Amino acid sequence: PLARSFSMTSLSGVLPQWDEEDLPVDDLLLFEVAWEVTNKVGGIYTVIQTKAKITVDEWGENYFMMGPYYEHNFQTQVEACEAPLPAIRGAMDALISNGCQVFFGRWLIEGSPYVLLFDVGGASGNLDRWKGDLWDSCNIGLPSHDHEAGDALILGSLVAWFFKELTDRLGDAPNVIAHFHEWQAGAGLILSRARKIPMATVFTTHATLLGRYLCAGNVDFYNNLGKFDIDREAGERQIYHRYCLERAAVHCAHVFTTVSQITAVEAQHILQRKPDVITPNGLNVKKFSAMHEFQNMHCSSKARIQEFVRGHFYGHLDFNLEKTLYFFIAGRYEFSNKGADLFLEALSRLNYLLRVHKEDVTVVVFFIMPAKTNNFNVESLKGQAIRKQLWDTAQGMKEKFGKRLYEALLKGEIPEMNNILDRDDFSVMKRAIYATQRHTLPPVTTHNMLDDATDPILANVRRIGLFNARSDRVKIVFHPEFLSSTSPLLPMDYEEFVRGCNLGVFPSYYEPWGYTPGECTVMGIPSVTTNLSGFGCFMEEHVSDPAAYGIYVVDRRFRSAHESCSQLTQFMFGFCQQSRRQRIIQRNRTERLSDLLDWRFLGRFYVHARLLALSRAFPDKYEMDPMAPPKAEGFRYPRPYSVPPSPSASLHSTPHHSDAEDDDDEDEPYDEDEEAERDRMNIKTPFVLGGVPGGR
Ligand code: UDP
Ligand code: G6P
Ligand code: GLC
Repeated sequence: PLARSFSMTSLSGVLPQWDEEDLPVDDLLLFEVAWEVTNKVGGIYTVIQTKAKITVDEWGENYFMMGPYYEHNFQTQVEACEAPLPAIRGAMDALISNGCQVFFGRWLIEGSPYVLLFDVGGASGNLDRWKGDLWDSCNIGLPSHDHEAGDALILGSLVAWFFKELTDRLGDAPNVIAHFHEWQAGAGLILSRARKIPMATVFTTHATLLGRYLCAGNVDFYNNLGKFDIDREAGERQIYHRYCLERAAVHCAHVFTTVSQITAVEAQHILQRKPDVITPNGLNVKKFSAMHEFQNMHCSSKARIQEFVRGHFYGHLDFNLEKTLYFFIAGRYEFSNKGADLFLEALSRLNYLLRVHKEDVTVVVFFIMPAKTNNFNVESLKGQAIRKQLWDTAQGMKEKFGKRLYEALLKGEIPEMNNILDRDDFSVMKRAIYATQRHTLPPVTTHNMLDDATDPILANVRRIGLFNARSDRVKIVFHPEFLSSTSPLLPMDYEEFVRGCNLGVFPSYYEPWGYTPGECTVMGIPSVTTNLSGFGCFMEEHVSDPAAYGIYVVDRRFRSAHESCSQLTQFMFGFCQQSRRQRIIQRNRTERLSDLLDWRFLGRFYVHARLLALSRAFPDKYEMDPMAPPKAEGFRYPRPYSVPPSPSASLHSTPHHSDAEDDDDEDEPYDEDEEAERDRMNIKTPFVLGGVPGGR
């Protein structure tokens, strides 16, 4: 038997411990099914990929992920191997001998989980028959034009078929738990239940289809949740069949979960079932042995962003890079759901404030949202080429200068510095400088946009007139593609880029969880989120003064759009007024929240959901106190020790501008250990653990 060392108490000792009964995992098999297994689209991939490690720690060889097979993904991310269990091999063979392709291997990510991948394209010949099966089992019909729904059905049919073959071979033991994510995996669950396959099922939704559509359509969603005629709304948006798949999966599952309280309320109205468990999203947090290592990483990543900026703004570098801050927004391009509309409006106000207050701070704002393009534009590439040329020129001169200086010193002379380089050298340098003249402003986009005229970010940039003029204190760079370390323009991967920025801004209107601000937090980068995102609500619940920790929560729930925009502007303006030292302190605090977002803490909700599913599917074998929720409620991080307790301080933790920005001692790593230690002691008092100090 495998050693199952699954310790929930290995964290800093700050968070509440957990004493839920362990599952007898040796007698069980756990399968997790999602369209994003080995296949990156958005946040669901992050859930699956980051959770793998703790799930493998708990389940060892009894854990399997399932998803669609794509040749490229398989070749680059999976090491093929033979399935360990004869029953799994037998079930795979049953499908393969009927002409369907199934692949098995280890996914090369942390934890190296087993993956079972099904070739959806190769099985498409069965689609019509499987549409008939779906109709016969639950009266859901899929239209032929919706290929995505068709693919979801093919995957679901293959998965359900596999489970039938598997459970036939396993008999009574081990029992199977199958956990399905999102509507694209829902068909597998519906068909499995219709065929009465004996296994415990969990369905997790990461959004509701209709919620996402309604919000994107500028509806006052949260004040009308109970009032929508949901069937009609789905029909009008031509997603009725998808919504049926989603809703059927929700109602078929033994246990239904979602990622946040706010989406739980939404699901109750839109999908008509109250989630049994909320399973907040965690991350696989890596701790560095040196406390300040993440600060050093910020510094080196920021230097790489500065290099990009030197190229992009060539000829216009009249702003001080030492006093330039980097803000960014990133994610799938859902313009209003992700709050890019509010962000742009607030940036235009921030630009105004920085100008009238004559601040010497410049803010470069990156929009990382994939749109349709045909490659990088010439102007952006040229900028980087010019920067490179200046660098090479400087290096060449440096060498010449050094060599001549050295020779002079050998002769015992101190040369006349102005004569050390000759006329030609000056010509070369002048030519290099002339090359940096430009007649256009530094471009807003880095790529040629296919829908330039109608693109919502560009349309709004035009409206507010933020064209990277010299007088603008806010500069915009729209990079309409996810980042990659192999890019000729900005060769950094996303994580490295985030580390180099000063503030992530995610003012979402529709965001069931929202990984991007959480990822900032564990890297010690402050961020803006909202009380309409699962993450923002979670932070408000568990942190007494989120802003003091560098988590700024914009109120988009109880304020008008205009007021939310003012609040966002104030957050950003306040951030710009901090000194470097204050930013360093704030980053230290932000990073201290990592434990709260670690799967080693949040994984408990998944464990709870599985046990609940087992107790419902096999009540004779698995018992559970139905009233026992997992223990994390009521826990809160107290306000950091160094923040004064007056109410005004909670608006902004560090509001004073220090003119010592350039002082050398600013770079001294701030010794926050004492503050951290006091917080820890404070946290351990029963007052804090037991209840909600100063609860809202
Ligand atoms: N992301 C990425 N590369 C980028 C920008 C974003 O890999 O250049 C990832 C990011 O790390 C995050 C995910 O995209 O994990 C977005 O997830 P989120 O939950 O914020 O939103 P979703 O797209 O699922 O709605
Ligand atoms: C880290 C480094 C410091 C650097 C600072 C820049 O803390 O350890 O050496 O000065 O980052 O911070 P800033 O907020 O100005 O990007
Ligand atoms: C969805 C949501 C996002 C969430 C992710 C992972 O894509 O849009 O808010 O973080 O799923 O649960």
